[in-house]
Amino acid sequence: MYAVKVFVVERSLVFCYLAKPSVVKFSAKSFLTKTILKKMKITVVGAGNVGATAAQRIAEKELAHEIVLVDVVEGIPQGKGLDMYQSAPIELFDTKIIGTNGYDETANSDIVLITAGLPRKPGMTREDLLNMNADIVRKVTDSVVAKSPNAIIIVVSNPLDVMTYVAYIRSGFPANRVMGMAGVLDTARFRTFIAMEFGVSVQDVNAFVLGGHGDSMVPVAKYTTVAGIPIKEFLMMHYKDQAKADERLKALSDRARNGGIEIVNFLKSGSAYYAPSSASVEMIESIVKDRKRILPCCVRLTGQYGIDDVFVGVPVKLGKTGVEQILEINLDDEDLKALQKSANEVKQNCEKIKL
Ligand SMILES: NC(=O)c1ccc[n+]([C@@H]2O[C@H](COP(=O)([O-])OP(=O)(O)OC[C@H]3O[C@@H](n4cnc5c(N)ncnc54)[C@H](O)[C@@H]3O)[C@@H](O)[C@H]2O)c1
Repeated sequence: MYAVKVFVVERSLVFCYLAKPSVVKFSAKSFLTKTILKKMKITVVGAGNVGATAAQRIAEKELAHEIVLVDVVEGIPQGKGLDMYQSAPIELFDTKIIGTNGYDETANSDIVLITAGLPRKPGMTREDLLNMNADIVRKVTDSVVAKSPNAIIIVVSNPLDVMTYVAYIRSGFPANRVMGMAGVLDTARFRTFIAMEFGVSVQDVNAFVLGGHGDSMVPVAKYTTVAGIPIKEFLMMHYKDQAKADERLKALSDRARNGGIEIVNFLKSGSAYYAPSSASVEMIESIVKDRKRILPCCVRLTGQYGIDDVFVGVPVKLGKTGVEQILEINLDDEDLKALQKSANEVKQNCEKIKL
């Protein structure tokens, strides 16, 4: 019997010494993946900007043993999938990536990220996309569910809250297994703008942006802090003037609300995808590793915050079974009313679409 000693020399390298004079070197990420995580299969539907970038991030973090990239355009998922797989020897991941135009290869996926759809163009609201993308998400969900009846679905396609509702209804899945990504992104944008304002690390800024993923989203000042200091207090420390502090808080909140369109206007064609893919993968990571992160996600409310049967962004605990808890945080009257107004807009849009 050989004694095995494992030394973590640096983040990416592990040296494993056997009693015999053989030294095996391998990637620390692979070591963790193979020994700790169960076999995980993740399907990403839509091999466009968000989907392909998310797939690459999932692979580089080794959150799955296999990624299946699906798209309607022939050759795109196959080509992008192979290209990503060829980065594996350099990025040191063992995740297998395949691309396809069908769903057979997606069978028994644990998580499905739906990014299929049309992105916004300048001058277009998310609601303009409503009916076009509802049709796509409906078909995609039917195909996903037929092959992966136990999957957790995360929707990214816009208008996000309505598309998540479409996936929920069409899948017939319990609500803990269907959620949408928006709050993590909107919050990341808010945190970035706050860090830029004060010239501090983004890591020291915490926030919650709740509500629908649209103009009615609600950046919650009460739970926004810089190194634990409430944002209103921090603004006063910085500007020493109440009117200026109020004006800057409003400007930061408005910029977060318009964070998506600001990028659409720069790009001219297409919309943001680096931060949206990061946000999606943060949710996936919490589920895969059962981390129980508290993240703002679009989930079905059943009376919380006085909102019933609507998908809208609120803080939730994400673990291996999906949405494990919906947190009902104490909101100021103004924020609660804004959240309810936002949910009402989502509900009205849900009523406009064919399911
Ligand atoms: N929730 C968010 O915060 C957020 C953020 C960014 C983008 N989005 C949305 O995500 C979606 C994707 O954005 P993108 O920038 O990747 O767009 P994209 O155009 O780059 O990619 C979309 C892909 O979906 C594919 N597709 C279309 N119909 C399909 C179908 N039936 N089955 C499979 N694939 C199909 C297209 O061929 C395309 O490759 C858009 O609806 C966009 O508005 C949401």
